[in-house]
Amino acid sequence: MADSPTRALRRSTLPLPLLNRGKVREMYEVSPDLLLMVASDRVSAFDVVMAEPVPRKGEVLTLITAWWLKRLEGAGVAHHAVSADPDEILRYAPRLAEDVDPAGWARRALLVRRTTPLPVECVVRGYLAGSAWKEYRESGTLAGEPLPGGLEESQQLPAPLFSPATKAVEGHDENITFHQVVRAVGADRAEALRRLSLDIYAVGAATAGERGLILADTKFEFGIDGGGRLLLIDEVLTPDSSRYWPQEGHRVGSAPPSLDKQPVRDFLASVEGWDRQPPPPPLPEAVVKATTERYLDIFRRLTGTDLDDFTPPSFSSEPGEVA
Ligand SMILES: Nc1ncnc2c1ncn2[C@@H]1O[C@H](COP(=O)(O)OP(=O)(O)OP(=O)(O)O)[C@@H](O)[C@H]1O
Ligand SMILES: [Mg+2]
Repeated sequence: MADSPTRALRRSTLPLPLLNRGKVREMYEVSPDLLLMVASDRVSAFDVVMAEPVPRKGEVLTLITAWWLKRLEGAGVAHHAVSADPDEILRYAPRLAEDVDPAGWARRALLVRRTTPLPVECVVRGYLAGSAWKEYRESGTLAGEPLPGGLEESQQLPAPLFSPATKAVEGHDENITFHQVVRAVGADRAEALRRLSLDIYAVGAATAGERGLILADTKFEFGIDGGGRLLLIDEVLTPDSSRYWPQEGHRVGSAPPSLDKQPVRDFLASVEGWDRQPPPPPLPEAVVKATTERYLDIFRRLTGTDLDDFTPPSFSSEPGEVA
């Protein structure tokens, strides 16, 4: 069957209706109930997509999502995944067999149940980093709620916090209060989103901890399927949607290096005069190579398996009831 893709893929062009092209992924329609989520090898830094793809990155992102969903399924979390197994995906989407290079989709595609996504980015933060650190430094709050005084950058919060954001169509997501989530989706659903997000974060943080990694923060999305069920959707606990830090590099008072994109960020920071607007400077080959290595490392570190030895899983046919 489909060989493992090794060629870098900047954008997929599959013979299925294209529903959305994001910064990194393409979403295709397979049937009224099923979608194919395909991760390319595009890499973004400072919200700008680089011209050069990073080989293996899409495969790493998709299979990390699949690996986590399999574990979360065991913990009773209802999610959208149907299969990451190329043979099974072909059975649902036989058009992929026609004239299509498997490198364009196999192992980087996840077949999922179609849902209506809820308009909330469900961020959970266990540590003070990124925009949360910025807000806290400026106003002593997180998502508008006061935090204890005297916390430092990268410090662990007294307890993990649900810190929702809007889904911005363009530009940066904006932090919103829990009250705004209630207004957007209703009180019961807002409470379900908060509880599920915190529960999933707890599983993620504990699992990462066993592997020497801190899950500083992460972002989940949820959707409602045709049967009215609330499902975990989108990518899950990937390095693109989460901040992982090696435990050994964690120091309160400074920002740890990014496990995955640091070579790209370091290079961009060394380029004089780039205003962080497109077009980005071209990435040297050594930077691309170092970034691929980082993605392969994080896959190995998290799953305990080399990417080439990992078998893409299939999922149970019926998601469990939640909320
Ligand atoms: N099971 C699903 N059903 C319906 N929509 C889904 C499902 N899983 C993910 N999505 C949606 O698919 C889209 C994936 O898009 P993607 O994240 O690649 O790009 P984007 O969100 O448009 O932009 P960005 O690159 O900034 O994230 C998201 O809007 C997400 O809500
Ligand atoms: Mg997105």
